[in-house]
Parts: sequence; C-alpha cells; structure tokens
Amino acid sequence: MSAGASDMAQRPATAREVHLLRRPGARMAADDLGIATVAVPPLQPGQFLVRNRLIALDPVRRVFFADGTAPLNAALFGFAIGTVTESRHPDFPEGAIVAHHGGFRDWAISTGANARLIPPTDDPLEWHADALGVGGFFAYVGLFEIGQLRPGETVFVSSAAGSVGSLVTQMARITGCRVIASAGSEAKCAWLREVAGADAAINYRDGEIAGQLSAAAPDGIDLFFDNVGGQQLDAALGVMAKGGRVVIAGMVSAYDALEPLSERHGGWTKQMLTSQVSLRSFDAFEHTRLWPKFQRAVGGWLRSGAISAQIHVLDGIEAVPDAFVDLLAGVRQGKTLVRVG
Ligand SMILES: NC(=O)c1ccc[n+]([C@@H]2O[C@H](COP(=O)([O-])OP(=O)(O)OC[C@H]3O[C@@H](n4cnc5c(N)ncnc54)[C@H](OP(=O)(O)O)[C@@H]3O)[C@@H](O)[C@H]2O)c1
Repeated sequence: MSAGASDMAQRPATAREVHLLRRPGARMAADDLGIATVAVPPLQPGQFLVRNRLIALDPVRRVFFADGTAPLNAALFGFAIGTVTESRHPDFPEGAIVAHHGGFRDWAISTGANARLIPPTDDPLEWHADALGVGGFFAYVGLFEIGQLRPGETVFVSSAAGSVGSLVTQMARITGCRVIASAGSEAKCAWLREVAGADAAINYRDGEIAGQLSAAAPDGIDLFFDNVGGQQLDAALGVMAKGGRVVIAGMVSAYDALEPLSERHGGWTKQMLTSQVSLRSFDAFEHTRLWPKFQRAVGGWLRSGAISAQIHVLDGIEAVPDAFVDLLAGVRQGKTLVRVG
C-alpha cells in the first residue's frame, strides 16, 4: 500500500532514538544511554512506518546492554505500541495500532517480525503494553501453564510489586491461594497487603529472608514464582513444600549487580534432596496457543476490577535514561512506560 498525501504529511524527516553509548559498569548510569537524531529512510516493500505512542521499559534489556547483544551507538530494541502511518506491508495497513519490537525510538520501521495488530478496543492502550501484553502473558503462562497453580496452594512471588509480580500476586489471590509477596520497601509491602490482597508481604531489604519466609509459610511453599534469583531463590529453596514447583521468570537481582545467581548457602540442600522440588525456566513465546485464552481471562479480570494493572507513564523520549536506571533501582511500582510522539 502506498502512502497517501495525508500520511506523507505525517512522515518525519528525522526520528529520535535511544542509543547505548557505552557498556554499563557494575551499576548502570543514566548517561550510559543518550538520545540521537537519525534520518528516516524511505520504506522498502514489506515494511511499514510506525509512530510510536508508548515504549515499554523491561529490566532484562540491562543484560543485553552488558553482554554485547545490544549494539553501541545504534537504535535499541524493546516493546512499543504505535500507529502505522505508512505501509508497504499487506498485513499492517495505515491507521492500524500495532504492538512491535521497535521501541526506544519515536518512529520505527518494521518488517512485521515480532509485531501484532491490536484490534479496536475500549480498553486503555497502556494495558496492551503491560497486563494484556508480553508481561501479562508471561505472568499468566508462568503461573497457570508452567506452574500449574491450584486453588488452596501457598504461593511465594518475588519482585511482587513489579510489572509481572503485581499481576502474579493478584492472579494467585483470585485463584484462591495463600500468597506471600516480597518487595524492596515498606510502601510496596503495604500495597501488596492492603490492595493486592497478599496474605503476607516481606521486605527483602529488612533482615534475613529465610526466617521471614519460614514464618509466613510454616507448611512450606507449593509454588514459587521467582522474578529475582539470588538471595531470595536461595531462601525459598529451603522452604519448599514436598512436590513444590519453582518457576523461574527472571533474575533481576543479577541484572544490575554482581550478585551471584545463587549464593549456594547450602541452606536448601537437604530440602532439595528430600522434597522432590521441580525448578523450571520458560519462554512464554513457546506457548502462544494460549494467547486468546490469556486475553479473555486477563481482559475479563481487568474490566471487572478483580485485578488492576500498575502502570506508571512518563512523558518524552528524554525521560528514558533516568527511567531505566530508576526501574532497576525499584523507584517505582509496576510497569514503567514512556509516552512518545
Ligand atoms: N515484563 C516482561 O515483558 C517480561 C518478559 C519476560 C521476562 N520477564 C522477566 O520477569 C521478571 C519481572 O519482570 P518485570 O518487567 O515485572 O520487572 P520488575 O519486577 O518490575 O523489575 C523491576 C523491579 O525489580 C526489583 N529489583 C531490582 N533489583 C533487585 C534485587 N537486587 N533484588 C530484588 N529485587 C530487585 C525492584 O523492585 P523492589 O523495590 O522490590 O526491589 C524493581 O522495581 C524480570 O526478571 C524479567 O526479566 C519480564
């Protein structure tokens, strides 16, 4: 499809992108990232141009900044939602709203790889970058498909006030589970108890984690949904119930620190040998057959108010460097999105 005159009027000569200027040291600094202005080239057949509206910040990008996967002085990749303003791709027409992988910039050219259309909806667009997007899908698949959650079980969720964790906490609660949640501040723990409905909330910065976990789960943990790794994984492995399952969703404690993935304190060795615990990581994209079921279930819970999406929206692409450092430091709760364009 060729671009019409009105669409060409929207075509910019230049776009702004977030670039990685140097590989981060032990702790990421905001000036590891910078904003560059680049020319927008003409579309090739099979491409479309997207005016991004929301770009999502995901902590796992920090790993790619360090390990060489993310290039220096070039556009970074990440999830975004925007409007197609010009198209030479039959499946992504002008005017369509699209979720895609060309984040960290205000205008993006896509081939359609890792892109999906968002059907017309009355739901807030922000939901599609969080609870009805990849993060929500990760929570849903991890909890119900990989974790095989059953009502009445005791569930422990780490980084429970984060984007994925806040959804997991609420989904486990409405499934009829006893939920223990951990986070890094008293304010987040108060939200987890008072709003998200966790039965217990542990501030992992406040004293020894294993003792707090044992007190909160005297009969052991049936399902541990772990976003964090490190000390919290070590602590939980010593408190797993017989036949317990550990779902490894991420290891955010290792993303911006030199903390080892497991400190191997040995506190969990006997428990792991005798309790027949299973531990599994997963890739939600290998379970895309569950996407329609996920959209129906989580969309229904959000619209009825059974669960809520915790979303913090910042304005302008210049906000990205500080916002990314703040994300790793746990400054905000839930999902951080940046509105651009
Ligand atoms: N969102 C997605 O689309 C997606 C997709 C695939 C996989 N994942 C994985 O799932 C996990 C959760 O993702 P998310 O997007 O919801 O991120 P997130 O949990 O919101 O990550 C940010 C939070 O991590 C916590 N944190 C930072 N350093 C920590 C440390 N050393 N120990 C414990 N907690 C720490 C902070 O909260 P506190 O204040 O509690 O410290 C911060 O708010 C991540 O490991 C991610 O890689 C996410």
